[in-house]
Amino acid sequence: MRQVTIKDVANQAGVSTTTVSHVINNTRFVAEPTRDAVEKAMSNLGYHPNTLARSLRSGETKTIGLMLPDGSNPFFADMARRIEDLGFKNGYSVILCNSDNDLEKQCSYIDTLIAKQVDGVIFISAGESKEDLQRLANTGTPVVVVDRNIPLSLADMILLDNEQAGYDGAKHLIDLGHTRIALITGPTELAPSHMRECGFRKALREIGIEPKPEYIVQGDFTMKSGSFVMEKLLLTEPLPTAVFALNDMMAIGAMATARRNGYRIPEDFSFVGFDNIELASAIVPSLTTIAQPVGKIAETAVERLLEKVQLDVSSWENEEIILPAKIIVRDSTRSILLD
Ligand code: RIB
Repeated sequence: MRQVTIKDVANQAGVSTTTVSHVINNTRFVAEPTRDAVEKAMSNLGYHPNTLARSLRSGETKTIGLMLPDGSNPFFADMARRIEDLGFKNGYSVILCNSDNDLEKQCSYIDTLIAKQVDGVIFISAGESKEDLQRLANTGTPVVVVDRNIPLSLADMILLDNEQAGYDGAKHLIDLGHTRIALITGPTELAPSHMRECGFRKALREIGIEPKPEYIVQGDFTMKSGSFVMEKLLLTEPLPTAVFALNDMMAIGAMATARRNGYRIPEDFSFVGFDNIELASAIVPSLTTIAQPVGKIAETAVERLLEKVQLDVSSWENEEIILPAKIIVRDSTRSILLD
């Protein structure tokens, strides 16, 4: 007989798994009729949230969970490989959960990780999902949040200094004489993209420039979205002389579109990316980009998680660790000061 899951309860009650989670954890107001429907479904199905799982846990399972938003993105693939390698070297198996940027799927995977009683979770969230983090915390499962901060003091957070990194990318182009700089953002609801954009705007404001609205376009961190929004930028007048994409995959897509339309890089457009994935140094021209300290992020996340796994819940000290990025200048940017 398979274990009843939060999804079964959601289906029977006719609500989302997120709503079921709110009823269980009281993390948000739920109207009485909906709450009743959820509680009735839980009773009918004999669903017992794993809130006691950890206290009933007999020893470690020597497994840790790793939640990722997009395993096809080289940045996350590299992060996953490093975390898995460090976990294995410390005697832990790693269960990889790819949420595909889907909060419902993420919620279901959280259910799985709780059911499997993993010893801890490294959590790169699909969005600002407090309830998923709350659910893990309620089971007493140690969590380390990476990359996308979740404003709850329930876990360590290993984050990048995104605002400074966005500033540095823009400043590099400004120092090369660019003032018409386009920005390809990631999903604006994600803190890393939002903070990088704040840094970008700050650098431009320092030279008295507010970016033209049509120079700010939103991608979704995929190469396809970079290619698509670059078509829009090619319709602006005057054209920008530089494009700052908030991840390398969007930069690579945008560069392909520029070249497909007959433009040269960096002669016609300078490009800056973000992440410093391996491909950034291999494409022609090689991509100037903001390098994330992926190795340091992975090491710090695994180290903090395993420390917590050994400690008793009551002695946890949650910490926010902000790591610096650094710009890697390559061939996709040029100075236009003498043009
Ligand atoms: O490439 C994926 C992006 O999403 C990275 O910049 C990473 O920081 C994550 O937020």
